[in-house]
Amino acid sequence: MIEVANRLKHVEEYYFSKKLREVAFLKSQGKPIINLGIGSPDLLPPSNAVLQLKEGLEDDGANKYQSYQGLPELREEIANFYKKRYKVNLSGKTEILPLLGSKEGIMHISMAFLNKGDKVLVPNPGYPTYTSVTKLLGAKPIFYDLKEDNNWLPDFIALERMNLSKVKIMWINYPHMPTGANAPNKFYDEVIAFGKRHNILIVNDNPYSFVLNDRPISIMRYNNAKQVCLELNSLSKTFNMSGWRVGMLVGNYEYLSAVLKVKSNMDSGMFYGIQKGAIEALKCSDMWFVSLNSVYEQRRELIWELVSKLNCTHDKYATGMFVWAKLPPKVKSEEFTDLILKKYSIFIAPGTVFGSNGEGYVRFSLCAPEVTIKEAIARL
Ligand SMILES: Cc1ncc(COP(=O)(O)O)c(C=O)c1O
Repeated sequence: MIEVANRLKHVEEYYFSKKLREVAFLKSQGKPIINLGIGSPDLLPPSNAVLQLKEGLEDDGANKYQSYQGLPELREEIANFYKKRYKVNLSGKTEILPLLGSKEGIMHISMAFLNKGDKVLVPNPGYPTYTSVTKLLGAKPIFYDLKEDNNWLPDFIALERMNLSKVKIMWINYPHMPTGANAPNKFYDEVIAFGKRHNILIVNDNPYSFVLNDRPISIMRYNNAKQVCLELNSLSKTFNMSGWRVGMLVGNYEYLSAVLKVKSNMDSGMFYGIQKGAIEALKCSDMWFVSLNSVYEQRRELIWELVSKLNCTHDKYATGMFVWAKLPPKVKSEEFTDLILKKYSIFIAPGTVFGSNGEGYVRFSLCAPEVTIKEAIARL
């Protein structure tokens, strides 16, 4: 056997990649699995976007390698989207880099800015990829606490007390996954000042701003953001296009050029038809957001019912595509989710997947039709 690289010794296979294999096995054994574990939108993308993708197949050159920076029309439409939806001015020529989903951006940004031994501030709880990518590159994740009693926001006094000398990047993600917490204006000003003071690149991962959230915010709206911040965004959840793989990175030209240096050596541009579809999706009117959210709102009501049937509690002001529920005292997240899977064939995510501060919580996805959630309620 050929030995794998040392870097793989420090990372585990992604929890959901492993768990979904187990869930698929249970399904193959005839178990009537209800999957409320993952956030893969089951609703369809905007119909005009699908049409444009299909028509794009016939266009001249659709089969060819595409630009590393995406079609200029796509970048312009992203700029229009940012202007209309976040009141942020970006140059489509220099301040926008389309990506194959925002997940790949986490790797590209990290490769562009981290050296071995650098440190990275990672939210606990938070999206697990920040940690695994950091470790894959031989850098060190330094977890900063997010706690319910501080509304899942970082404690800047505690951050200032840390040894920040080798910290190069800080990941933030509001609206926050998995808790659904939102950040106030004051937070963005504070985090930008923190980044400037310590010369830390602040990266806001922002894929959930349009799901059950009436206050979409881009960090780029705040003073000095372009000096120390980048923002990742995605069409995966906003337009139900997670499998199409469309994301973007926005920020100042110098930072984006560094990321492009990495990206252009790793992929060869996004499929043309998908870019055409994405352009169309970005043009959607307010009605798209209203109808998307009315579906999620009804589902969330049902999930809340399920949550109370399980003697858990939730924050009714939380946003996003998940319900983050608190377990009764002393109940362990993974034991609980394993039990629910075994006893009721319902798959939900244990909070510990997102870090140690997720202990005592579980996460329910809203990516299942009402009838399925009702079936889950009935089983309990
Ligand atoms: C916080 C967060 N960031 C990034 C992503 C990646 O999204 P995508 O690569 O589909 O844009 C996800 C996906 O679940 C997420 O929850």
